[in-house]
Amino acid sequence: MKRDFLRLWDFTSEEIISLIKRAIDLKKGVDASSCPLIGKSIGLLFEKPSTRTRVSFEVGIYQLGAQPLYMRPDEIQLGRGETIADTARVLSRYLNGIVIRTFEHTRLEEFASAATIPVINGLSDSHHPCQALADMMTIYEKKGRIEGIRVSYIGDGNNVANSLVEACGRLGFTLTIATPEGYEPDADVLDTARSGSGEIILLRDPKEAAAMADVIYTDVWVSMGEEQEAEKKKKRFEKYQLNSSLLACSKPDAIVMHCLPAHRGEEITDEVLDGPNSVVFDQAENRLHAQKALLEMLIK
Ligand code: CP
Ligand code: NVA
Repeated sequence: MKRDFLRLWDFTSEEIISLIKRAIDLKKGVDASSCPLIGKSIGLLFEKPSTRTRVSFEVGIYQLGAQPLYMRPDEIQLGRGETIADTARVLSRYLNGIVIRTFEHTRLEEFASAATIPVINGLSDSHHPCQALADMMTIYEKKGRIEGIRVSYIGDGNNVANSLVEACGRLGFTLTIATPEGYEPDADVLDTARSGSGEIILLRDPKEAAAMADVIYTDVWVSMGEEQEAEKKKKRFEKYQLNSSLLACSKPDAIVMHCLPAHRGEEITDEVLDGPNSVVFDQAENRLHAQKALLEMLIK
């Protein structure tokens, strides 16, 4: 039976922890010369731009011995109206797995239900589970544990925030989220995660949310596909910038995280992004290791 990874909630706590541990081993070079996916082909169907997700998957797939195949919708018949389900059925006959970056999360679900190969979410409007996996690995590496950690997310309750919410429900940390009214993470995601083990606190005041944080996390205010709302959102979020005075509210050894790309000077200042507390480039590197562990687990 194939497994998909469309949202972090698709995996149990034990599976997430074992992926993190395997990713840390892969990062150390354990099994570096073994090619568990030799002779396989993995598709990458991207309907939005990407630097980290695309390159870390292409490199990781190659390192595991398989062939990555990058496709844009305008280069395949999907862009001319072939249905998602037919595309999924056909690609399942050639590929051993596929990573998809798209808009509505339902497009991924539709693809996954027609496909007979594992489908990995490389970002949708609602979830970014591969990012959350690398984020959890980064917290584990830097803090030595995840359970009991205080994570503060300041900014837009977007796809990245939704996946952190699900990580919280699975891994049992405290997640405090500060957003303007109307920009909270999705209600159904919050309900799902609250049936799990963590604690999720929603606030308006960024300083209150940042207090005593071990991890302080932000993401862009305007996500891909929201460009028409850019001016409105930038105004609405101006008090939510992660700057030195906000960072000073958190613990002195708090780590600063951002999934990148950053809009420097908007949601985060240069001083914080490039400062001594920032771990953003380790976090970006961990995408590679975490996704290799994920591919090893899903692609047989
Ligand atoms: N963090 C992340 O997913 O980056 P890309 O959009 O560059 O893939
Ligand atoms: N929230 C951002 C994440 C980019 C990796 C977006 O969806 O554009």
